Amino acid sequence: MKTYLVTGAAGFIGSNFVRQLLSEEPNVCVVAFDALTYAGNLENLADCLGHERLCFVRGNICDVDAVRGAMSDGADVIVNFAAESHVDRSILGCKEFLRTNVEGVQVLLDEARARKVGLFLQISTDEVYGSLGPTGLFTEETPLQPRSPYSASKAAADLLVAAYQHTFGMPAIITRCSNNYGPFQFPEKLIPLFITNLIEGRRVPVYGDGLNVRDWIHVADHCRGIRAAITGGRPGEVYNLGGNNEQTNMAITRLLLEALGKDDSSIQFVEDRLGHDRRYAIDAGKSARELGWKPCIDFKQGLAETVHWYRTNESWWRRIKTGEYLKYYEQQYGRAAANRRSAVSR
Ligand code: NAD
Ligand code: DAU
Repeated sequence: MKTYLVTGAAGFIGSNFVRQLLSEEPNVCVVAFDALTYAGNLENLADCLGHERLCFVRGNICDVDAVRGAMSDGADVIVNFAAESHVDRSILGCKEFLRTNVEGVQVLLDEARARKVGLFLQISTDEVYGSLGPTGLFTEETPLQPRSPYSASKAAADLLVAAYQHTFGMPAIITRCSNNYGPFQFPEKLIPLFITNLIEGRRVPVYGDGLNVRDWIHVADHCRGIRAAITGGRPGEVYNLGGNNEQTNMAITRLLLEALGKDDSSIQFVEDRLGHDRRYAIDAGKSARELGWKPCIDFKQGLAETVHWYRTNESWWRRIKTGEYLKYYEQQYGRAAANRRSAVSR
């Protein structure tokens, strides 16, 4: 049995990853670690919390004692999803981004090193490469040129991971993925924000001319790619993961309007995001060759299923929009646990 410490496990991708691991890898047990910031929602793991191979720990990756405690029974692999992840928030203020995305990674790396963890998997992003013109793709050799405070903090983390690999021989892998969509995505990001606004009869705010391009991938494909990197990746390497699926924001908007029976009157063009990156597109050839991984979920079908998921899980996102979801941890584990800085719950 291997033990994985999964940080940021109550967020969008982390919770999908934990669910996939528990259902597809019988020889893995998971310590799911999360600070439950505004983006962390323990309800994302509601169906996993009673699982015999899962232990949830509330804690902050910047808190050495909390991280050490979570690893007290050992950890074979650390998968770090914990991050401040929303570009718009990083433009409003980036202190928390530096704290979690850089300082938190340093704490995890030091603890991984002290405990001789077998593999440190850093979940990074295509945004560290900057922005593309109309042609070309990001490869693992593309120089890092982050352009938002968020992507700068993620690039800093990548450099730190690479430095620990070089200096201390830390067995580390970095994956850089493109834009994810799917169930349990916090409704501040484009796709869930637009679906939920349209269900509520509200308009959708398209930034600028709506022609920025992102490479969309279903979260389940991303999680499979991470697992392939853990089992088949070479320590010290970077692996790009992408959907091979470039879409403008307007194209996404039109698909969602159609799926929800709305027309262009639901679109509101708003002021552009500051420093808005124009285009991201991933060359995931290395992951195909070395890991035998390819995304397999068709975008139209994946998007239709995602719309269906938000339609049938209205109480999940409405509890987020009203703030009710913040009480879930306390409802599960009681006020005493909620007031502790870190708590372990089986
Ligand atoms: P998210 O915002 O949904 O989840 C982040 C999680 O991290 C939350 O549960 C939050 O509570 C937790 N967290 C934040 N600060 C923490 C701290 N200091 N200590 C412990 N936990 C903390 O993010 P996501 O979309 O699931 O992204 C997960 C990771 O994947 C991030 O590292 C992000 O950079 C990366 N990524 C995201 C995408 C995407 O499209 N969403 C694409 C590529 C890479
Ligand atoms: O590329 C990977 C990255 O994708 C991840 O590293 C980030 O964590 C994740 O948040 C995402 O970043 P983006 O900025 O690309 O995602 P977001 O959903 O915020 O925006 C997608 C596009 O839609 C972008 O061009 C901005 C635009 N947009 C977004 C919102 C929230 C709008 O036009 N209107 C909106 O209201």
